[in-house]
Order: sequence, then C-alpha cells, then structure tokens
Amino acid sequence: MGSAIKKIGVFTSGGDSPGMNAAIRSVVRTCAYLKVDCVGIYRGYQGMIEGDFKPMDARSVNNIINKGGTILKSARCDDFRSAEGRKRAHEQLKKEGIDAFVVIGGDGSFTGAMIFNQEFDFPVIGIPGTIDNDIFGTTFTLGFDTALNTVVEAIDKIRDTASSHNRLFFVEVMGRDVGHIALNAGVGAGAEEILIPEENLGLDRLLESLKRSKKSGKSSSIVIVAEGDKTGKNVFQLKEYVEEHLPIYDVRVSVLGHMQRGGSPSCYDRVLASRMGVKAVESILEGKTNLMVGVSDNKLILTPINKAIKGHTKIDKELIRVSEIMTT
Ligand code: F6P
Repeated sequence: MGSAIKKIGVFTSGGDSPGMNAAIRSVVRTCAYLKVDCVGIYRGYQGMIEGDFKPMDARSVNNIINKGGTILKSARCDDFRSAEGRKRAHEQLKKEGIDAFVVIGGDGSFTGAMIFNQEFDFPVIGIPGTIDNDIFGTTFTLGFDTALNTVVEAIDKIRDTASSHNRLFFVEVMGRDVGHIALNAGVGAGAEEILIPEENLGLDRLLESLKRSKKSGKSSSIVIVAEGDKTGKNVFQLKEYVEEHLPIYDVRVSVLGHMQRGGSPSCYDRVLASRMGVKAVESILEGKTNLMVGVSDNKLILTPINKAIKGHTKIDKELIRVSEIMTT
C-alpha cells in the first residue's frame, strides 16, 4: 500500500476490559502483515508523554489472545488533559517516528484522541474497549460479552446460596452511567428485579414487586443493581430499606466489583477484537482518521469519534419488557 503512514502506535487507555490484548495482537499482526512498523505505547497517554515505547512485531503478541487485562498496561492520565502534556506527547511520537495511533479504550480515551487530532492533525483511530458497552456507534464494545458471562456465572452461584437460605440478594454490578450489564446479565441470570440508571422505577415499585414475588410462592430473589442506578440508595441502603419495610425478607448484599473487568475474553470478544484491529489499521493506511471502529448488524462500521463520544447508547426497551414477563 502506498500510504504515507509507515509507523503506527497502539495503546490501551482508561479502564481495562477483556479483549484488549486480542485487539493489540490484531493491530500488531495487521501491521506486520502489511509491512508497516508498529510500536506499543505503555500506560496509555501517560506512557506517550513519557516516551514509554516498545517496537512490536508479530512475535511480540504470542499467547495473549486468551489473556485478560492489557499487556501494554492502562492508565487514566491527567497530564494529557493539558495542552502542555499533549505537546510533550506529540514531541515523543515525532521523535519515535510514529505517524498515527490506534487507541483502545472508552469515551475519555477517545476525547483525548480527538483533541490531539485537532491540535496536531495527527491521524487517530479508536477501538471501543470497555465492559460498560456505553459507546455510541457500536452494538458491542470489547469486553462487554465477557463481563456478562462473568456476572451471570457469579449470580448463578449466588442463586444457589440464596435459594438454600430463602434469601433476597442485592447484587451490584458495574455500569457507572448505563445499565447494559445489569439488564443483560439480569435477564441471563433470571433476576427478579433490575435497577438501572436509565429507568428509575422508584422504591415503592421495588417493594410491590418483592411482595408479589413472595406471594407468588418464590422463596428467594435476586435483585441486580447497576452501580449508577437512580433510586438514590446504594445496595447497602437498599438492603436496610427492604429489611425495614418488608421484614419477612432475609437480605444480603454482594458487590461484584472489579472481578467483572478481568478474566479470559469470550470467543465473541476475541473475534470482534481481531476484526476491529484489522479494520483500524487498514483504515489508517487508507488515510482515514478521527474515526472509531464499531460493529452493527455484525458488519464493521466507522463512526466519527466526536459522535461516538457525544452520542448516547440506548437501553433495549424490548429486553426490559422480556425481563418483566420473565419475572411473573
Ligand atoms: O470500565 C468502566 C468501569 O467498569 C465502570 O463501570 C466503573 O464505574 C469504573 O470502570 C471503575 O473504574 P476504576 O475503578 O478503574 O476507576
């Protein structure tokens, strides 16, 4: 390919997610295949500012497709928010001869990339990597599918003990601003109630639903709560609230936390990461920039990064309805 781009940098940034390594592998191997140099940038934008670079070839990414986390490490970087920090990063990239970069991360990472592109006319392409699935322009982000499987597996185990003791469990899952993990894992794990930021059904409704559930003969219950839910109470306060208003329930709380971000990626995430990495490198070499690779109807698409950042992902109303029917 007769592209002006001869060396591509790749890095992971923000919260890690399963599938990031598979995406790094894909970017590195696509570069090797197309005979373009590739450089790994360690610790996201922080490493870029500090010139923490390492040339990578096809063999640098052996045996990582199955690994959680990110071999390039990740960081949230305050220095990159300043013009001075970005100038230093640009100088480091130029010194290393890097002509373009692929950033694997979420909306904060993409915002940094977009500003950098505007300031230095530097080619950038994003690959969405976050378990939250909260990026516009893609039906799935890398790590979402794996996180769902992790959550469902954990809740299956919680269900065993909940059922043995006739207990009600509040299970908190990740999702700072969105309820995609809660809703999908809730349906997949058969939760009685799902509390998500997008719909505040109110505490009265929760009590009504729990009462109904008891009356219908259910002896144990699982309520999934997205960490960003809007009831105004966290899981521990919800426990107290229910104990106070429905003393018939023996309530426990389980916060799944960062275990949701780890683990070996699912086959879906590995395949998606492999596809996205190829698309990212090919797009850069075709002269495209300031875009994010996404998937829609199982086809890879490109969305302007500013749209990916500003757009809102919609919660699946149909799935909410399914969940309501399933809790009969
Ligand atoms: O990766 C996104 C996310 O998992 C959010 O759901 C959560 O609020 C956040 O990361 C926590 O990240 P950290 O503990 O790394 O700040």
